[in-house]
Amino acid sequence: MITGGTDGMGRALAQIFLERGDQVVIVGRDERKGRDFLDAATGIGVRERATFIAADLSLVGENQRLVERIATDFPAVDALVLCARHYRATRLETGEGREHGFALFYLSRFVLSHGLLGNLEKAESPVVVNFCGPGADFGEIRWDDLELARDYHGNTAMVQGGKLNDLLGVAFAAHHPGARTRYVLYGPGMVSTSFSGEYDAESAAHVAYAKANGRSVADGIAPAVALVDSPPAEPLSAFNADTPVSLAGRSFDRSDAMRLHALTSELLRR
Ligand SMILES: NC(=O)c1ccc[n+]([C@@H]2O[C@H](COP(=O)([O-])OP(=O)(O)OC[C@H]3O[C@@H](n4cnc5c(N)ncnc54)[C@H](OP(=O)(O)O)[C@@H]3O)[C@@H](O)[C@H]2O)c1
Repeated sequence: MITGGTDGMGRALAQIFLERGDQVVIVGRDERKGRDFLDAATGIGVRERATFIAADLSLVGENQRLVERIATDFPAVDALVLCARHYRATRLETGEGREHGFALFYLSRFVLSHGLLGNLEKAESPVVVNFCGPGADFGEIRWDDLELARDYHGNTAMVQGGKLNDLLGVAFAAHHPGARTRYVLYGPGMVSTSFSGEYDAESAAHVAYAKANGRSVADGIAPAVALVDSPPAEPLSAFNADTPVSLAGRSFDRSDAMRLHALTSELLRR
C-alpha cells in the first residue's frame, strides 16, 4: 500500500511492485491520476492487481476510513509506504481545523502506521517505509505551537514535519515491542518529482532548482525497493539514500517521542 502513489516516487514504486507480480494499492487525491495509473496497469496486463483509493489524507477522518477499508479488503499488508506530501507556502487549516502540513505529513502517517499494524503483522516480513528526511541536524520542533499558528513558513512546516516523523518512528517501535513489523525512516535526498504543493515566488524557485538538479526518481527509490524486499533486522532504522543514519542523535530522543505520542493520542481522542 502506497500513499502518494499517484505521482513522483510513490507512483514509480507502485509501478515496480505491480510489474513484479505484487498486489498494489495506491492512495491519492486526484481521481484522474488514479485512473491513469489503472489504465497503465491495464496496458501491462495486471489490472486485477492494481487498486486506487481516492482519499484526502490531510483529514483524520479519511485516514480512519482508509484504515477500515484496508482492514476489510486487504487483511494482510506486506509493506506500507508513506509518500503523500503537499507543500504550502501559506498556512491553511483543514476542514477539521488542523494545520494542513501537520495533518498530512505527520498525523496521517501516525494514524496509518498504528492503524494498519494488525494488517502488517499478518504478512511474512512486514515493513513501513516512511519517506521523510531522517536525522536532520537543523530546525526544531515548536512544542508550544505544533501547528504553527505563529510565524508560519512552508519550510518550517516541512522541516518540523520531518522531525515529527523521526519521533513517530521511535514511538512506534517503543509502543509495539513484540511486533514483527519493521519501521524504516527513509530520506531519498533531492529527487526530481512533481513536488506537489502551492508555492510562492521564493519556494517556486527552489522547486525549479530541485526539478532541474535532483536525482532521477529511479535513483531516489532504488534503496527503498531494497528495504521493502529485505527489511532491516532492527525494529527501527533510518537511511538517507542507502546510508544508515545513527539513531543516537537528538532527532530520535525517546522522551521526546513519548511526549509527542501522548500529545498526538490526546489530540486524536478529542
Ligand atoms: N522529492 C524530493 O526531493 C524529496 C526529498 C525528501 C523527501 N521526499 C519525500 O518523498 C515522498 C515522495 O515525494 P515526491 O516528491 O515523490 O512526491 P510528489 O511527486 O510531490 O507527489 C506527492 C504525492 O502526494 C499526494 N498527495 C498530496 N496531497 C495529498 C492529500 N491531501 N491526500 C492524499 N494524497 C496527497 C499526491 O497525490 P495527488 O496528486 O493525487 O493529490 C502525490 O501522489 C514525500 O513524503 C516527500 O516528503 C521527497
